[in-house]
Amino acid sequence: MTNWLFLRGLSREQRHWGTFPQVFERATGGDRVFLLDLPGTGTENGRASPKTIEGIADDVRRRWESLRDANQGPWGLLGISLGGMVAMAWTAAHPNDFTRLVLASTSAGNLSPPLERFDWKIVPAALRSLFERDPVKREERILGFTTRLLEDRAPVAEEWARIQLDRPVARAVVITQLRAAARYQAPPRIDVPTLILAGARDPMANPSCARLLASELGAPFEIHPGAGHEIATDAPEWVADRVAAWLKEVAAMPASSIARVQPLGGRGPLPLAVEPAPGSDTSADALAKLVASRRGELEKKLTEVGAILLRGFDVHDAAAFEKVARAFDPHLKNEYLGTSPRNALTDYVFSASELPPHYPIPQHCEMSFVKEPPRRLFFCCLEPNTGAGGETPLADFRAVWRDLAPAVRERFAERGITNVRNYAGPQGGSRFDLWKLKRWDEMFNTRDRAEAERLAAKNGFDATWTAGGGLRLTNTQPAVRKHPLTGEPVWFNHAQVFHLSAVPDEYRRIARRQGKLRYAALARVAEAAVALKARSPIEDQAMHCTYGDGSPIPDADMDQVRDAIWKNMVFFKWRPGDVLIIDNDSVSHGRMPYVGPRTVAVAWA
Ligand SMILES: [Fe+2]
Repeated sequence: MTNWLFLRGLSREQRHWGTFPQVFERATGGDRVFLLDLPGTGTENGRASPKTIEGIADDVRRRWESLRDANQGPWGLLGISLGGMVAMAWTAAHPNDFTRLVLASTSAGNLSPPLERFDWKIVPAALRSLFERDPVKREERILGFTTRLLEDRAPVAEEWARIQLDRPVARAVVITQLRAAARYQAPPRIDVPTLILAGARDPMANPSCARLLASELGAPFEIHPGAGHEIATDAPEWVADRVAAWLKEVAAMPASSIARVQPLGGRGPLPLAVEPAPGSDTSADALAKLVASRRGELEKKLTEVGAILLRGFDVHDAAAFEKVARAFDPHLKNEYLGTSPRNALTDYVFSASELPPHYPIPQHCEMSFVKEPPRRLFFCCLEPNTGAGGETPLADFRAVWRDLAPAVRERFAERGITNVRNYAGPQGGSRFDLWKLKRWDEMFNTRDRAEAERLAAKNGFDATWTAGGGLRLTNTQPAVRKHPLTGEPVWFNHAQVFHLSAVPDEYRRIARRQGKLRYAALARVAEAAVALKARSPIEDQAMHCTYGDGSPIPDADMDQVRDAIWKNMVFFKWRPGDVLIIDNDSVSHGRMPYVGPRTVAVAWA
């Protein structure tokens, strides 16, 4: 049993928790919740507030010490909004006070800009609430920009108005604590297992603040799709259940079962290999638990390095793979608008590519051309091929962007890229033409033209129906994109896959690497085919791309891109049971041709 201390946010006190403490006690199966107020609020109203978050934490801590002495056992700390900042500052200064930390709807000034921590769009509503004389109406106004899921605000507003009349919070306290929050900087680390929660529809603090904090602290992050800032008021059961589930994961954490975390041994840090300790449980279930319990740490490493290889565990079928992938990111997706034909192995696991073994798959970040590309990509080797090839090489596309000549970078950055893809319809087209890709009905998983158009529009493609029931998709996208977490520039587009010169050039480079005449010959065949294709207008090409202004991308520019990519590529041989996690925002993947059977599965989130 754990004792918990809950801390409320700005100008709120313990009674504002409502029934959440009871919901929490039920969900955790017997943990006990204690409530203390920040200086100036609740039982402490009438007192001035210290000017810093650290000072506020010290103030609460002094009152907590007697509670701790009277209630033996481990303590956890849960803070919401400004209470979350106090909880962070407290735990950073006194890491032995608590064994668990939960932060909800919170942020830090060193990680997120002020306008993301406090959205200016709510300023008019906030000002109106400040000058509202009727206390119930005032609370209703505040609930209007802090909650999203309350079916009936009136009873809550009435209750909160009573609290405010009973123990009013001085305006000076609100201003002092607002200033303290604005200046608050997150500690570089917190040595207590931490869970971070946010509401996706928080109208006040952008949920990216909590996400960034989670990334900075290496903590797992859970987001409620509908909740607002007052997440424990909007979704009390969800918060309690997420915390309870996480507590179980942390308790089951087989901390000793990882033996090594180190680069695989190639050039540079990519991928980072995580291997089990000798004699420890290597089952897929144990791996899933391990991943869930150390998710924060693994996520942090993934953002830094770009890819993690879980090696030496027994992940030998699609269902086991899905479990491991889900342990890292519960929000797997299955809408696929990429170029490879794939077969479903479970609802969320697919064969990586059904393209014939001799087809080269150039490096790319998965679905870089759709509006919301996957953030994470998972591969699992169910059956490695024997002999040469068959690798899934990786390249750090941050390094690729850095390695391009400034003039090339400038051209791509200024002009962007326009992709053209022509898909055959349900009646026509070979599945296995080097350039023909799939049919549109295969890609959109429908034969209904209106539905295909809707899906195309949703992903930012212009769709044009062509003769013979075909569909042309075009879209213009930037060539370079900022990494969503680190802000580093990343080469993030499919030019090296879509450009007509891609296939022959890829074969030439593969022939050089593998020393095989077969690929040199295929390069020649592809070259001749490209020479023929180049006579047709761009809009009729099965796939091609130009600069965003419609001007051709010269082969010389594409050569420089491919040089940079191949310079940064790392190769490793698959072993059965390998699970590879890729940060799709920074690291690309591809496939080397091979011979014989090989089964690699993919999932994404
Ligand atoms: Fe891919």
